[in-house]
Amino acid sequence: MQGIVLAGGAGTRLHPVTLPISKQLLPVYDKPMIYYPLSVLMLAGVRDILLISTPRDLPLFHRLLGDGGHLGLNLSYTAQHEPRGLADAFLIGADHIGDDTAALVLGDNIFHGPNFSELLERTATDVHGCVLFGYPVGDPERYGVAITDQWGRLTDIEEKPTHPRSNRAVTGLYFYDNDVVEIARGIRPSARGELEITDVNRVYLERGDARLIDLGRGFAWLDTGTHDSLLQAGQYLQTLEHRQGVRIACLEEIALRMGFIDAAACHALGERLGATAYGRYVMAIAAEHGYRDVRPAG
Ligand code: G1P
Repeated sequence: MQGIVLAGGAGTRLHPVTLPISKQLLPVYDKPMIYYPLSVLMLAGVRDILLISTPRDLPLFHRLLGDGGHLGLNLSYTAQHEPRGLADAFLIGADHIGDDTAALVLGDNIFHGPNFSELLERTATDVHGCVLFGYPVGDPERYGVAITDQWGRLTDIEEKPTHPRSNRAVTGLYFYDNDVVEIARGIRPSARGELEITDVNRVYLERGDARLIDLGRGFAWLDTGTHDSLLQAGQYLQTLEHRQGVRIACLEEIALRMGFIDAAACHALGERLGATAYGRYVMAIAAEHGYRDVRPAG
C-alpha cells in the first residue's frame, strides 16, 4: 500500500500564525502536527509515503523529515501549486501509487483511540473499493457527512450539507483500491472550484464499493482548524501523555514497534534530540526493546 499525506492549504482560519508557515508544521503539544497523520500511516504498515504541500512549505517538511530513512520510511515530496482540492492528491500522486492500493491522510487530522493500530493494520491488508472512517461530531455541517441505513451500511455521503442528515463526519483518512486514480481523473471541480474527495467516494458508493468503519464515541478525532481547537487538541494530548507516561504519535517509537528500525537506531534518534524529555523517552523505549549502551563511560 502506498501512502499520501496531504499538507497543503493556506490555513486561513489560523492567521496570523500561518502567514509564514504551514499549519501542519505547527506544534500540537510536543511535536509537529504532521507527526500525527504520519503515525497513522506507519501504524497501518505503510512505509512508502508521498508528502504533498505547497512549494513554499515543502523545504520545511523536508528539513523536518528528510527522506524518512532514519524512521525506516521512504518519503518523497511533491508540490501542489494551487489548492485544487483533496482529490487532486491522486492526480499528483498517480505515479507514486502505481498499481498499488492507496491510503490518504490529511495532514491536520489527529486520531487516537483504543485498538486503532490493530484496526489500521487489518483494514490496510484488505482494501476493496474504498474504506472511510466515520466519527460522531456536534457540527457535521463542517465535514463530509455519512448517512447509513439501520444496519450501519453506507447509503449516502454529502459534502458540508446545510442540513446534515446525520451527525457522522467522514474523517480525513481514506483507503482505496487502485481504481482511485482513474476515478479522480473522471471527476470535475465542485462549485467551490475543488476536486472533492466526497465526489470520489460517491463514485465508489454508486458502485456498491464503499465501506464505512465507525470509530465511535470512545475514540478521539481532534480538530486543529481554529486557534481554540488547536490549543484544545494540544491540551488533550498533554493530559493523556502525562497521565499515562506514554507519548502519542512518537514516530521513533512507532518505527521501532513496527520493526522498521532496530533498538540501536531508535536510541540514536533519541540521542540526537538532545536533553529533551522527548529524546529521553525515545531512548527509554529503545532500552525497553533491548538496547544496551556498551560504549565505555567518559
Ligand atoms: C475535508 C473533506 C471533508 C472531510 C474533512 C475531514 O474538508 O472535504 O469531507 O470531512 O476534510 O477533515 P476540509 O478540511 O477540506 O474542509
